[in-house]
Amino acid sequence: SGPELAAVVANRTVDVPDFPKPGIVFKDLMPLFADGQAFRTVIDGIVGHYPAGFDVVAGVEARGFVVAAAVAYATGAGVVPVRKAGKLPRKALSASYELEYGEATLEVHEDAFIAGQRVLVVDDVLATGGTAGAALDLVERAGGTIAGFTVVMELAFLKGRERLAPREVHALLTV
Ligand code: PRP
Repeated sequence: SGPELAAVVANRTVDVPDFPKPGIVFKDLMPLFADGQAFRTVIDGIVGHYPAGFDVVAGVEARGFVVAAAVAYATGAGVVPVRKAGKLPRKALSASYELEYGEATLEVHEDAFIAGQRVLVVDDVLATGGTAGAALDLVERAGGTIAGFTVVMELAFLKGRERLAPREVHALLTV
């Protein structure tokens, strides 16, 4: 159930103060992923939220890759990486977005999707929504149709959900 899933995530997530910068409390989901039973519960929870399915799972570098590959394998979907700038070997589309200080860029191969493929976009954490907004735009520009956007944990106070509206956001745990 939803509350049980949220509890699994909450119980296995570790807050790391002052990482990567002073004043930031980093949400470390690696202990959750390192627990086999909890990881399976998380992946099954995501899969169960999309009964109509999807063709491809797009994971956002780097922790989104872990979730994306597992969801893809569990459902028979393919997996596509949304990467930080300069990492992809072939011709790629780019999307830049504002960070607290400066700018970041994500990329996806221009031929990553067959037109109309239903793409589930996944990441570990939704914070300000800048990363997710860029990833979702890239998937559409590359010809994919968004089947959903899901994160393991949403940090509600950073208002990513509002930034992404009217897109739908699914989070296993919202804090
Ligand atoms: C984290 C997280 C999301 C993003 C969320 O990634 O995994 O991708 O930040 O932040 P936002 O909603 O404010 O954009 P990070 O940039 O730390 O990359 P990494 O997984 O490669 O370390």
